[in-house]
Amino acid sequence: MTTPSPFSTPPVETTVGNYFVSNYPPFSTWNEDQIPGLQEALSRPPPHPDLCLYVHVPFCQERCRYCYFRVYPRRQPQTVDLYIDAVLRELEMYRPFPALEGRRLKAVYFGGGSPSYLTSGQIRRCLRGLQERLPWTEVQECTFECEPTTVTLEKLQALKDLGATRVSLGFQSLSDRVLEASGRRARVEDCLRAYRLARKAGFQEINLDLLAGLPDETAESWMETIEAVVGLAPECVTIYQLELTYNSRLFAGLRAGSQGALPSWPTKRQWVGDAFRNLEEAGYTIGSGYMAIRNPGSWRFVYTVEHFWHGGELLALGESSFGHLYGVHYQNVDQFVEYIGRVKSGRLPVRRARRLSAEEKLRREVVLLLKTGILQIDYFRSKFNVDIREKFEPQLRRLQEEKMLVVEDGTVALTRAGLLSVDWLLPGFYLPEHRGIRYT
Ligand SMILES: C[S@@+](CC[C@H](N)C(=O)[O-])C[C@H]1O[C@@H](n2cnc3c(N)ncnc32)[C@H](O)[C@@H]1O
Ligand code: SF4
Repeated sequence: MTTPSPFSTPPVETTVGNYFVSNYPPFSTWNEDQIPGLQEALSRPPPHPDLCLYVHVPFCQERCRYCYFRVYPRRQPQTVDLYIDAVLRELEMYRPFPALEGRRLKAVYFGGGSPSYLTSGQIRRCLRGLQERLPWTEVQECTFECEPTTVTLEKLQALKDLGATRVSLGFQSLSDRVLEASGRRARVEDCLRAYRLARKAGFQEINLDLLAGLPDETAESWMETIEAVVGLAPECVTIYQLELTYNSRLFAGLRAGSQGALPSWPTKRQWVGDAFRNLEEAGYTIGSGYMAIRNPGSWRFVYTVEHFWHGGELLALGESSFGHLYGVHYQNVDQFVEYIGRVKSGRLPVRRARRLSAEEKLRREVVLLLKTGILQIDYFRSKFNVDIREKFEPQLRRLQEEKMLVVEDGTVALTRAGLLSVDWLLPGFYLPEHRGIRYT
């Protein structure tokens, strides 16, 4: 799958391919030859103590038709136990390195898959094990992703007891017809039940994930979902636009002719735009191309926006997870057996790495921070000694002409049209050799 070329007109039809940008340079430029760069980074004491932690949990009850994550459905508790052991052992392996000395862990994120697939006992063992190995006294935010049918009060209480501050519930839609057509296990009632339980367990920070462009979605069912979500008043709503990937059952269905055409890209943008408008009318603030926040004054996103998108360091554990230490990106092996085997034999399960040049570090922050819809010119001047208006003059001029962006008051700010298309615009800020190449 290739990254779109700079300023190429986004496609209309939802065809197979990547669109979402989660990091820069593209993963396809990371390689095994650069793993020594990570080892070198690990041998140095940290110049700054701040660190975030990502833990990948690749298990789910069912595989949804559109999902492109590497997930393992219906695995036995013994397999999950084996995985938790490996994650804890992986952290053990990192501990002796100077790079982990005196660290201040700021935020933790459990992503998947569905971390809520773990039993409450496994949640306790995993969190306790991590806390015994890394000091959690300064953790400001700990997020746990949940798939609604796997949520129980017991699990949520275990999370609360062990310091989780936020749950992110994968709703995707509040239409039973759409959920069924998407191969979701959850129905509307499961989503609402999970939300009620999260409140009952005392969570005051709940994010709901929605997905625009699922099979059988109509403008009407989409707006009904948005209205129902507004009625629940979660602290945050995250809306993705559906990507169609080669490894999904949905793509297989389209190819075989058993699945009709999916909502187009302009339709998805329109739906997200409508959703943002409704959320704004209900008092929410749009915090990025994906996120609406109920109380921006008290809501923070330490892990992503404050830390990782600003070049902060991230220790990543688990199969296929990616991290970043001193300007070196790395990603773990993405096969379960290989991951477990590598960790058991005492070898770090890193599959590929990439040391960033100064130029790439700057571009990475431009790319990732543009997802928030606004770049502060002074920030880049003081951190990189660069005036981004001059450096990216051709890109900014073109985007201004297309009414995607405005440059004013010391900022580069996306218009709403720009924000809804943000992932299509970002490759324009890549180095020329990274445009039009495979992303993953
Ligand atoms: C790893 S999932 C975590 C939630 C949980 N597994 C669930 O689905 O309920 C993170 C989010 O990725 C999004 N996602 C999954 N597949 C996607 C796709 N093909 N295109 C865009 N977003 C997708 C969904 O909104 C999902 O909630
Ligand atoms: S969308 Fe969520 S629940 Fe569905 S298969 Fe993917 S990770 Fe699992």
